[in-house]
Amino acid sequence: MKKLIVLAALALSPVFSAQEMVNKPVQSYQTAQYQAKRKAFVENLLSKMTLDEKIGQLNLPTSGDFTTGQAQSSDIGKKVEQGLVGGLFNIKGAEKIKAVQKVAIEKSRLKIPLIFGMDVIHGYETTFPIPLGLAASWDMNLVQQSARVAAKEASSDGINWTFSPMVDISREPRWGRVSEGSGEDPYLGSEISKNMVYGYQGKDLSAGNTILACVKHFALYGAGEAGRDYNTVDMSHVRMFNEYFPPYKSAVDAGVASVMASFNEVDGVPATGNKWLQTDVLRKLWNFKGFVVTDYTGINEMIEHGMGDLQQVSALALKAGIDMDMVGEGFLTTLKKSLDEGKVTQAEIDMAARRILEAKYDLGLFDDPYRYGDAKLAAKEVYNMENRNIARSAAAQSMVLLKNENQVLPLKKSGTVAVIGPLVNNSLNMAGTWSVATKHAASVSLMQGLQANYGKEVKFLSAKGANIDYDAKLEDIYAAHGKKTDRDNRSKEELLKEAVDVANKADVIVLAIGESAEMSGESSSRTEITIPQSQVDLLNELKKTGKPIAMVLYTGRPLALTNVKDIPDAIVNAWFAGSEAGNAISDVLFGKVNPSGKLPMTFPRSLGQVPIYYNAKNTGRPLSQDKVDKCVYERFRSNYMDECNTPLYPFGYGLSYTKFSYSDMSVSNPNPKGNQTIQAVVTVTNSGNYDGAEVVQLYIRDIVGSITRPVKELKGFQKIFLKKGESKKVVFDITPESLKFYNGELKLDWEPGEFDIMIGTSSDKVRNSKINWTKE
Ligand code: NOJ
Repeated sequence: MKKLIVLAALALSPVFSAQEMVNKPVQSYQTAQYQAKRKAFVENLLSKMTLDEKIGQLNLPTSGDFTTGQAQSSDIGKKVEQGLVGGLFNIKGAEKIKAVQKVAIEKSRLKIPLIFGMDVIHGYETTFPIPLGLAASWDMNLVQQSARVAAKEASSDGINWTFSPMVDISREPRWGRVSEGSGEDPYLGSEISKNMVYGYQGKDLSAGNTILACVKHFALYGAGEAGRDYNTVDMSHVRMFNEYFPPYKSAVDAGVASVMASFNEVDGVPATGNKWLQTDVLRKLWNFKGFVVTDYTGINEMIEHGMGDLQQVSALALKAGIDMDMVGEGFLTTLKKSLDEGKVTQAEIDMAARRILEAKYDLGLFDDPYRYGDAKLAAKEVYNMENRNIARSAAAQSMVLLKNENQVLPLKKSGTVAVIGPLVNNSLNMAGTWSVATKHAASVSLMQGLQANYGKEVKFLSAKGANIDYDAKLEDIYAAHGKKTDRDNRSKEELLKEAVDVANKADVIVLAIGESAEMSGESSSRTEITIPQSQVDLLNELKKTGKPIAMVLYTGRPLALTNVKDIPDAIVNAWFAGSEAGNAISDVLFGKVNPSGKLPMTFPRSLGQVPIYYNAKNTGRPLSQDKVDKCVYERFRSNYMDECNTPLYPFGYGLSYTKFSYSDMSVSNPNPKGNQTIQAVVTVTNSGNYDGAEVVQLYIRDIVGSITRPVKELKGFQKIFLKKGESKKVVFDITPESLKFYNGELKLDWEPGEFDIMIGTSSDKVRNSKINWTKE
């Protein structure tokens, strides 16, 4: 019998208790009383500081991770002693951090504590899926929880500032850093952005187990030309405000304590020296109150951008609104001279120093400079079983089932399974990009996961089958930062033969192919977004065995899978799933977890379609939907002669082992007026054979506007859990807030008229209701 349940509230997360969740953080440091106290403290301190000491607060070197004993003797140690350092980043370990803090507190004149930053991007030692994967979970409790776990681990080990969340919207899969963000959508990106900030910062930044978040890279870093890292960006302000800015603003609205400037230029001025961006938009328009840090040598790089010499670009950055200089020491070495020459003002230097001191005050460091980092606490907090279980669950939730034919998945818990692929026994590549603190050796490889979880019932055989790439030099470049891929020097034929032999002994093949971890991430742009040929050849060879193939895809970006998608029976996109990758993949393959991930970024058919994204404009010559669906070419329409318009897998797409059917969509009022709230309702039924979770997506199209509007925009989603046979009524509240956009004058407002209200299982499969919303 089917049960009908009305679901009004947000996502159901089967995994976590909500107890620790912070939904509306009332940050103590926002009250007037707190601010008056902080002001008195900081102004008093500033009045005692020399110019050098003030400039010193703006200096953020990297440590090179010296050992404990070197803290004092190193060059940085000396600078700390002289008060010429505001913070340090990427030192790992409570004891080491304490030793440096000790130098600041015991040897520097004013005993100003340092802040300690790190790229804690998707977890600390317990590593979660890469951010693009986490985004695919569409589970905001989980997203927040991942940041909470990361903050607890990192803070117990001495870190009180993370360079996360990275929220750069991107429609460019050539760009390796799409792996670090939440994909292409401003709405989903904004939800994730704020939940990451809540998770890191909690309610109280001085709690000792919360840390400063840093939203980055402000701004538009994901829109570099041709997907080449650090490349030029040029876009209209209307696009910036409507499509690229929302996730940064969402972090600011959530109270993010710091912002990192991006490397790229915006309107012809590098973001690091762009006053319009860092002051007019960020502070004046959005009311940001924290501090802005450059990216790594961002000031110095303005010399190469063609903005002047080090003194000029440092002054430009300070005047633009930059407070802290990461690594380059442009501030440290030139600001005094610029002040003497009248190129910067004392007030500008004071303002930057004030903002750094305020952040330190908020962290409680003036009360207790050793508040963060306690080896005993770290031993309990870091990489404990509870955190690993959360990471395992997050990893399974991030996986996207792209295809499942002949009911190959879930696998049967019996017989023999051939586990084949270049990384099946590799732990080092499981965490993916930005895993500074990851316990790599302990990361669970696919074979380890399968053996540990199902080794008693199932016989697993393994073979490498192919190297990541035929080209050994390229494979070296891919692994240049240390994530070795265990290249096998046997010939291609030998590797294939071994794989085929193993496959012939098995009932089913699990073939794990795709990218290695460092094929995405910073400075990892690719001109091809396909699976390397060595691995495609392996797939084709295994196909000849006639055995069913379940393909596990490792990737940090959307790949063009056109040449492989028809070959395996099933494809699970596992991204880079983190510390617990092998366990989580096993959970999904054997059906312990029914996959529910949905793509946060479009997977194109070919690179030629890029940029391709669901929330595109209609153009004046759109191809009719019928022709789009049938992939029919029409002359003088917006389409390709040699390729369909549709992507391979659209935004929001992802299958389940069960089936969800949508019915009875309706809106509560087709003619709303003014500030009314209406409801869009749909019934979702689990009509398949497994319990499972579904992400129900709400899209809206504004039919006529004063500027052209996208064909659809995500405006809401709910992740619901349905038992086999169960139905739920899903209700979305819609207010004029959902209709707002930045118009030609960059004013945020909504315009009356007709709207399509669409609900569905992915961006391309929706049911539609038309409404007409009038102002009064
Ligand atoms: C450069 C990267 O662009 C940025 O994301 C990172 O936080 C810094 N390096 C510090 O490692």
